Amino acid sequence: MFTQFFIFFLLFTPIISTTPHETHDFVRTLDRKMSGLDENQEKFSRFRFYWHDVVSGRNPSSIEVVSSGKNSTTSFGSVNMIENPLTLEPQLNSQLVGMAQGFYASTSQSEVTLLMAMNFAITEGKYNGSSITILGRNPVFNKKREMPVIGGSGLFRFARGYAQLRTHWFSPSTRDAIVEYTVYVLHY
Ligand SMILES: *[C@@H]1O[C@H](CO)[C@@H](O)[C@H](O)[C@H]1NC(C)=O
Ligand SMILES: *[C@@H]1O[C@H](CO)[C@@H](O)[C@H](O)[C@H]1NC(C)=O
Repeated sequence: MFTQFFIFFLLFTPIISTTPHETHDFVRTLDRKMSGLDENQEKFSRFRFYWHDVVSGRNPSSIEVVSSGKNSTTSFGSVNMIENPLTLEPQLNSQLVGMAQGFYASTSQSEVTLLMAMNFAITEGKYNGSSITILGRNPVFNKKREMPVIGGSGLFRFARGYAQLRTHWFSPSTRDAIVEYTVYVLHY
């Protein structure tokens, strides 16, 4: 008990004894290079994988949590929570490289357009444990769509870029979909 108190005392004394002005500084300018954020070290990477929106069946990865207004032909107002597998090949049982965790919401009354907010939690290779954050507009029936990469974590700190989407397969009856994502990312 005494030892614990002593360690506590040692750890916190310097903070307590100096003036708040010196230690609790609100903002401080840091050296980019010292923080591993050297501009010359910025990388430009391309990732490609398939995103599986499994709505039907016994184990859906995409679940409608808010349903749309009664008469909406575009499902306006509906929201799906997703934890969609990301695989290297279009087949669901091909190599898993991560999960897309987030949600999408139908945001147009005149066409099927989604607001998508999701994190690509990567589980493969050196990026295992890092994530890429996407927030964007997805007019799902357009042949080509694009959404911004707005950030990331781990090896994707300060990430920016964009994702290009192309529907690989869509079932109008079950509404299951496989979408090819090509993600261009600037990161350190
Ligand atoms: C739904 O649409 C039909 C046909 O357009 C219309 O007659 C009906 O009033 C609408 N119902 C609601 C709740 O808006
Ligand atoms: C990814 O990281 C997790 C947690 O550290 C670990 O359990 C898993 O085996 C790793 N996967 C691969 C493919 O390296």
